[in-house]
Amino acid sequence: DKGNHRHFMEKEIYEQPEVISHALGQYIDFIENKVNPMTAAIDFAKVPSLAISACGTAYLAGLVGKYWFERYARLPVEIDVASEFRYREIPLSPQSAALFISQSGETADTLASLRYCKEHGLKIGAVVNVKESTIARESDAVFPIMAGPEIGVASTKAFTCQLSVLATLAIGAGRARGTVSEAEEKALVRSLAEMPRIMGKVLNSIQPTMESLSRELSKCKDVLYLGRGTSYPLAMEGALKLKEISYIHAEGYAAGELKHGPIALIDENMPVIVIAPHDRFFEKTVSNMQEVAARGGRIIFITDEKGAAASKLETMSTIILPNVDEIIAPMIFALPIQLLAYHTAVFMGTDVDQPRNLAKSVTVE
Ligand code: F6R
Repeated sequence: DKGNHRHFMEKEIYEQPEVISHALGQYIDFIENKVNPMTAAIDFAKVPSLAISACGTAYLAGLVGKYWFERYARLPVEIDVASEFRYREIPLSPQSAALFISQSGETADTLASLRYCKEHGLKIGAVVNVKESTIARESDAVFPIMAGPEIGVASTKAFTCQLSVLATLAIGAGRARGTVSEAEEKALVRSLAEMPRIMGKVLNSIQPTMESLSRELSKCKDVLYLGRGTSYPLAMEGALKLKEISYIHAEGYAAGELKHGPIALIDENMPVIVIAPHDRFFEKTVSNMQEVAARGGRIIFITDEKGAAASKLETMSTIILPNVDEIIAPMIFALPIQLLAYHTAVFMGTDVDQPRNLAKSVTVE
């Protein structure tokens, strides 16, 4: 049932505040402002490193997770798409743990990567939506994302729920490893607790801008997305969403890689979507944006209030989100990229919920 939405994808985008709030309730003690005690199956205090693997959007959630585990838990992370991970012959330590992220819990390559790690003696954690899935069954610890059924082939609410669960795991691992203090944990958890309300506000306020921008995007053949830090995986996720449902060619790049190649693509016809909250990377990303502007590129700038005030560059459009703490920025900034892809596809008249050639669950290699 789509309720009063045109597509399941739209419904699922708007469900995010609710499902995330539900999911966080499982992982967080909002009275004490603490992450709930973690599973005993994986000893995050002792593991020397973490391996993460997944496909598609779930992989991009894992890539954000890598930044968090490294930053908050000082835990080195090896991550790759499952189709490479399973064949790379990665030297793995049996003392390590591995996390597999999958909405369906049935993705063939992700399952094969899981079995590879299991054979090498690693403890296995599964971040899944379908709790009865094969990936969940074969894991030592299951971390449900509790997004509810996701019908739209393009993943939206599963992505932000995966991120939310990974954030709590990274904070919990940080506490176990003594790299996150009690005060830091409280502050991080408070930010997470605020997230559903902020998401609701953002979803209500940006829709008209996204809809009008989608008319512009629908005329384009190629779109470039740029970001740094955790906004880099988001840039790739933005590009993935756009190509999946609108069939417009899009690429997501680390902003710092611009001058190593993609800058050659920039002309007056090329929209460049810059994802840049006012974080410690902001100035660097703005200088990349200047390079785009100097070559006549049309910039769609997705930033926050501080970022909008700090940048004087002329853009085709600036989307201003509220200032939020760094830990929740990826979930908040996911919203405009989802809506932009959605409205572009609707405007172009594609089959949004069932894009051509794609399947919701990829059970063959
Ligand atoms: C993108 C998308 C796919 C899936 C990928 C993994 O919108 O839906 O890229 O993320 O096929 O699927 P799961 O998460 O079921 O393993």
